[in-house]
Amino acid sequence: MAADDQSLEALGQYALRYVKPGHTIGLGTGRAASAFIRALGASRIEVRGVPTSSASEQLGRSVGIPIVTLADAGKIDTDFDGADEVDPRLNLIKGYGGALVREKIVAASSRRFVVLVGYEKMVKRLGDRGSIPVEVIPFGVVLAMAQIKALGMKPRIREKDGKEFVTDSGNWILDCAVKKIANPARMDRDLLAIPGVVGTGLFVGIADVVLIAESSGKIRVLKR
Ligand code: A5P
Repeated sequence: MAADDQSLEALGQYALRYVKPGHTIGLGTGRAASAFIRALGASRIEVRGVPTSSASEQLGRSVGIPIVTLADAGKIDTDFDGADEVDPRLNLIKGYGGALVREKIVAASSRRFVVLVGYEKMVKRLGDRGSIPVEVIPFGVVLAMAQIKALGMKPRIREKDGKEFVTDSGNWILDCAVKKIANPARMDRDLLAIPGVVGTGLFVGIADVVLIAESSGKIRVLKR
């Protein structure tokens, strides 16, 4: 079972302790990140937000967070985002929501990256939930699928309402079925070497803090 809405709201509220007035904040995408954005808006702490998707931009504006572009923000103090898998070394798989490329750019532009997840996202090894999202330029999709197959994965074009799912950057997502990943950093490099691949959902060595909503209702904190 996944963490319920109430636990994610508590997680979003808990994460506010990492926010200081005047900070520039990365606004992640997905259920957990949205809970944080709502808590941040309600807190009235004076911050600016750099969104990782049009959905988080819309939500941020709707709760009164001033939105700035990454170019105008310069450095981000802390980025808050969800994840689809977290391993014991705090490596992540992200992108089940389709915002992986912008999410990685915002995370890499931040001094600190705080990840918010329900307990069900904790895995022994990345790949446990079965797939890695990879963003590709539509022009290169045939080549990318062939080369991903050659790496031992089974790519499938993500669809929404019977059509290809299109990211905020105008690209497609390949959901690549995978067994256990022995070396996430190498797999990331191999995927990024394929022409037309824009980014992968593997976030290796990027997260600083992971906040976990446990089934007991408690919050567990893991630090790099
Ligand atoms: C969006 O592209 C994803 O990376 C999300 O951050 C991730 O899927 C976690 O989302 P939830 O908090 O909705 O599970």
